[in-house]
Amino acid sequence: MFHSPSIVRGICASVIFLSPAAFAEDTAPVTSPTYADIAPVVEGNCVGCHNSEFAYADIVLETEGDLLKHRDSVESAITSGFMPLGVPEFKDSEEGKALLAWLAAQKPVAPSPAQ
Ligand code: HEC
Repeated sequence: MFHSPSIVRGICASVIFLSPAAFAEDTAPVTSPTYADIAPVVEGNCVGCHNSEFAYADIVLETEGDLLKHRDSVESAITSGFMPLGVPEFKDSEEGKALLAWLAAQKPVAPSPAQ
């Protein structure tokens, strides 16, 4: 008789990939940045006009909580090229991509599991 070997499933399920983040000079970031990563981006590109003193459109973007509060409008303002004001190419810059990646990662997942 011939015994076919049993197939062991699930043991080798780990997917290993090397993050190119450390070499991402010219490529889009593929990992989700943290708030610490994007805080300087917001500081340098948005907070000059969106702070407690000059809150254009009543939007202050000084903290992570501020950013989360305005998550959706911030995302659409950037992807449409409206913000930062007069800098439509921001969304295609390294900084813009990082900020958009962070915003995307803040989206709530499955808000209502049981309907
Ligand atoms: C040079 C000043 C300036 C900078 C820099 C700037 N904004 Fe604004 N922002 C404005 C002004 C002025 C408005 C109001 C525009 C209007 O309603 O016509 C505005 C409006 C907005 C709005 C509301 C848009 C809407 O649909 O009503 C959002 C969201 C926003 N900005 C986010 C950002 C973000 C995020 C950045 C940085 C990536 C940024 N802004 C950078 C001046 C600025």
